[in-house]
Amino acid sequence: MNTKEKDRKYIMHTYNRFPIEIVSGKGSLVYDENGKEYIDMGSGIGVTAFGIADEIWRDAIIEQTSKVQHMSNLYYTGPCAELAEQLCERTGLKKVFLSNSGAESNECAIKVARKYAADKYGSQRNIIITLNNSFHGRTLTTLAATGQEHYHELFTPLTPGFISVDAGDLESIKNLVSDGNIAAVLIECIQGEGGVIPLEKGFVKALYDLCQENDVLFMVDEVQTGNGRTGKLYSYMNYGIVPDVFSTAKGLAGGLPLGATVVGEKAESCLGFGDHGSTFGGNPVSCAAALSVINRIDDELLDSVMEKSSYVFEALKDAEGVTDVTGMGLMIGIKTKAPAGEMVKRLNEKGVLCLTAKDKVRLLPALNIPMKILKKAVEIIKETVSE
Ligand SMILES: Cc1ncc(COP(=O)(O)O)c(C=O)c1O
Repeated sequence: MNTKEKDRKYIMHTYNRFPIEIVSGKGSLVYDENGKEYIDMGSGIGVTAFGIADEIWRDAIIEQTSKVQHMSNLYYTGPCAELAEQLCERTGLKKVFLSNSGAESNECAIKVARKYAADKYGSQRNIIITLNNSFHGRTLTTLAATGQEHYHELFTPLTPGFISVDAGDLESIKNLVSDGNIAAVLIECIQGEGGVIPLEKGFVKALYDLCQENDVLFMVDEVQTGNGRTGKLYSYMNYGIVPDVFSTAKGLAGGLPLGATVVGEKAESCLGFGDHGSTFGGNPVSCAAALSVINRIDDELLDSVMEKSSYVFEALKDAEGVTDVTGMGLMIGIKTKAPAGEMVKRLNEKGVLCLTAKDKVRLLPALNIPMKILKKAVEIIKETVSE
């Protein structure tokens, strides 16, 4: 049996895979089993921040694997502490919990919210407000946080304690907060899986102020938007606010599993010994990879992300077959006249790997995608959507 046959026989059919086996790559180019070249405009859903087999990233991993690949969290390890220091120094927040994925980083944020509110106000204050059309993960609790009913249907009962409201509906949130049982609000500044939709700045600021006035933790899910993706280190930095808690994963370790939940002063002492844990969380190899990623996300790189972003927006906004372009930085949604799924299939055939998000074609290329390759991909996209 070849890879596709084995996969179909032995892997649960939870992914509707494209008929492509990726066997190697370099930077923003990947190659399939027949040697066909593709421009990678999805970077593993925003994970390979500096592309495939990037040398700085790879050297950081090799160096750490030859020292120690894993220790339990019963002991100190350097990369874990250093990464936490970087995340705190670069954001002004105070403490970090390291896990392995986006869903886990949100699980920790949710535990922080519940414990913070219960310690101060009693355990009845346990409701978390999220937004309709959001996505926060696939565990039963993060599914409950996800404001999209169709993800819930087959898996009830979900974890109780979540209410979803429409983005922009501050009045409903005010009413809920006035009951005194709201522990936290959890938002994505740009709804990724929901269709690459940035929240309005006025709404985010007003929501933030409401949370501060009522001691409701303001939590931002930076799983997809974080680590340079939107042209800032974290997307909340585009909104002139500093959250009490944020969660991140995906691009953080550039292709190894790592999640981080970062908390500010209010909740920094909220979780104590035994309140949370993870066998693999803070793994030294993942942390060494993440340090190599975070240390490269400087002003120069962020400026280049914005420059490439402007190029894509400019090139596509009036292109034939395109009805809308949304997003921020290198997190871009393209609404096309033809269905997005159909577009992505045609783009695959022409050697460009893209994602979808609801009714849009979604681009999440590596942050360092060379301009020449980006231009080639955009030309192929323009040509394909106009056909
Ligand atoms: C905003 C957001 N939160 C959470 C998740 C879940 O992350 P993971 O798949 O690493 O658990 C995702 C994944 O797409 C996401 O986009």
